[in-house]
Amino acid sequence: MARLAGRHEVLALGRGPSRLPASIMGQAGVTWADGDLGDGGSVERALLAFRPEAVLHDGAATDVDGCERDPLLAWRVNVGGTEQVARACRALGARLVALSTDYVFDGEAGPYGEEARPNPRGAYARTKRCGEEAALLLAPDCAVARVAVVYSGRPGAKSSFATQVVERLTRGEPVRAFSDQLVSTTLADSAAAMTLELLLEHRYQGVLHTADQGVVDRVTFARRVAARFGLTGEILPVRTADAKLLAPRPLRAGLDVSRATALLHHKPLTLDAALDRFHAEWQARPTP
Ligand SMILES: NC(=O)c1ccc[n+]([C@@H]2O[C@H](COP(=O)([O-])OP(=O)(O)OC[C@H]3O[C@@H](n4cnc5c(N)ncnc54)[C@H](OP(=O)(O)O)[C@@H]3O)[C@@H](O)[C@H]2O)c1
Repeated sequence: MARLAGRHEVLALGRGPSRLPASIMGQAGVTWADGDLGDGGSVERALLAFRPEAVLHDGAATDVDGCERDPLLAWRVNVGGTEQVARACRALGARLVALSTDYVFDGEAGPYGEEARPNPRGAYARTKRCGEEAALLLAPDCAVARVAVVYSGRPGAKSSFATQVVERLTRGEPVRAFSDQLVSTTLADSAAAMTLELLLEHRYQGVLHTADQGVVDRVTFARRVAARFGLTGEILPVRTADAKLLAPRPLRAGLDVSRATALLHHKPLTLDAALDRFHAEWQARPTP
């Protein structure tokens, strides 16, 4: 929304009243609509009333273990919600970019290119994969943008592994990190630039991997975050199986981003460049 406000007429859709800052909601051409991806109709109705030319769909039920506990909710939101959005795009002739995840892969043999065959495990992963199909099948002009391990230092951004590393080490607390999970990482602002370019400036259709460059295990990622912030402290390697998580996690995951690198003007970032921007975002936060 920060990248769109003031440049386009834009409808922000979410549950309940707007929680966007006044700096965004106060811009001319920005409106908000209350819609629930899980109720079968309200998001579709709001889109049909607004009549957008392009839709970025990134709302989802994202609590991986929560989805495992409540697969009905995961299905309603991740499949039914995407179906609502895709149906509206179909009716309006609007372009759709829908966000998805590296979790559509089983993590046996990453990093994965766009042509690799998905094999999702667990309710979150399976419903996100079905959501991809709903988007690609129903919206005639559609791209699915897959990201992984998203983080942001912007004020109000969601807590993430990277922000927890900074917060815990700053407080002198140890960080636990999975040593056996190989992942791609994604600075949210980098994915926002890539997905909006894909939405507004490209006709690319199909799946595109829009994470940042490289694959790291989470211990290395935590160490790189700590080093960039000049933080010392304990980073304790743990194995995924020992954490007894409810939903399965892909272990050798990671997304090959060479297609996005060739296609887009906003390229996937190197980890060093992404961490520089993360650090700058963090430094620009208002002091509490
Ligand atoms: N974060 C990651 O590491 C990661 C990795 C891979 C893929 N992704 C994908 O990236 C996208 C964004 O993820 P995120 O990490 O930003 O997730 P998030 O912080 O949990 O945001 C999801 C958004 O969806 C909204 N939402 C959830 N249920 C809804 C419902 N029933 N109706 C309307 N809105 C609803 C949430 O609204 P509320 O604020 O009201 O809850 C929230 O704004 C998702 O498609 C996710 O699958 C994320």
